[in-house]
Amino acid sequence: MTDLAVSVSSAPRAGLAASMSSAPQAGLATGRAIARANIALAKYWGKSDVGLNLPAVPSLSLTLDGLETTTTVRFDSAMTADLFVLNGRAAPPQVTTAFVDLLRARAGTTLRAHIESTNNFPTASGLASSASGYAALVGATNAALGLGLSLDAMSAIARRGSASAARSVFGGFVELLRGEPGHDSLCATEVAPVSHWNVELVIAVTTELAKETSSRDGMTHTRETSPYYQAWLTHAYEEFKEVRAGVLGRDFKRTGEAMESSTLAMHACAMAARPGVIYWNGTTLTVFQKAKELRSNGLQTYATMDAGPHVKLLVHSQDAEPLAQEIAAIPGVVRVIRAKPGEGLVCERV
Ligand code: PMV
Repeated sequence: MTDLAVSVSSAPRAGLAASMSSAPQAGLATGRAIARANIALAKYWGKSDVGLNLPAVPSLSLTLDGLETTTTVRFDSAMTADLFVLNGRAAPPQVTTAFVDLLRARAGTTLRAHIESTNNFPTASGLASSASGYAALVGATNAALGLGLSLDAMSAIARRGSASAARSVFGGFVELLRGEPGHDSLCATEVAPVSHWNVELVIAVTTELAKETSSRDGMTHTRETSPYYQAWLTHAYEEFKEVRAGVLGRDFKRTGEAMESSTLAMHACAMAARPGVIYWNGTTLTVFQKAKELRSNGLQTYATMDAGPHVKLLVHSQDAEPLAQEIAAIPGVVRVIRAKPGEGLVCERV
């Protein structure tokens, strides 16, 4: 997790705060949560309020079964600083600490925590690990502190970590509208459940390496220097409406065409920044071309990609296996992941 729209807190204080009444036995509490990655069919890129991490355009995503982050948070009155372990390795805790501070403030505690987070898919490479990461972190912290937050409230807090994380709180097809500057309550909403549509995403993983430019840095630089940014804001809204209508009507062609237009416009806008932000590699382009070729041969599929070089192909479930085989045969594709629509955040106090 690298994104966060809160400032890093001052030096942590040890021990139980005086006003701990809202977090009974928090000194020993552990919370656990599972959240799934989501991939935007209509992309968000750019912020309307940097401080509150509000998106400048609406987006619509699919939550993915099987691409999971599992997080445990254990508050401990003996700790003097948070400890953050990501995929089995100690990681810098500052950004995570600042995020958990949002929840500590609600609970009226300064207790420090042991935070352990594991992704079962590549981290920080454009497979939406920050989305599932912040969603799982808010769920586990909420459970550990006994805050009893609603899904909407957790979605709004997750958004402060990474805007796409607001969407991972919900399952199925999920929208996050454009944020009005200053409106910190913006949360995502489920527009259709997991069972709504029998589609899958086939993901072509084109590297196991972490990306060079975070989405946060990439979109800030795009907003500041791309001559196409204003056009993107208008276009993104139009394609969002198309994708939404396509999804609700289970219209594959309408959804797919708008989805591809959304992603290509986002990347064109980023590439036109100075210097250009280029998330593609050669294999990315080959997979896009393959999708077009397959369509002309009768296999209906459309491509999208995020702030990383992997390509995600939307496909009817019955075509997912033949598509996965075609994609796996492309030189440079490291592996292929198939993902059905997945459920939203699950959290418990253990
Ligand atoms: O939520 P962030 O800051 O990780 O940015 C997400 C950006 C994209 O993945 C490219 C698009 C999206 O809507 O998820």
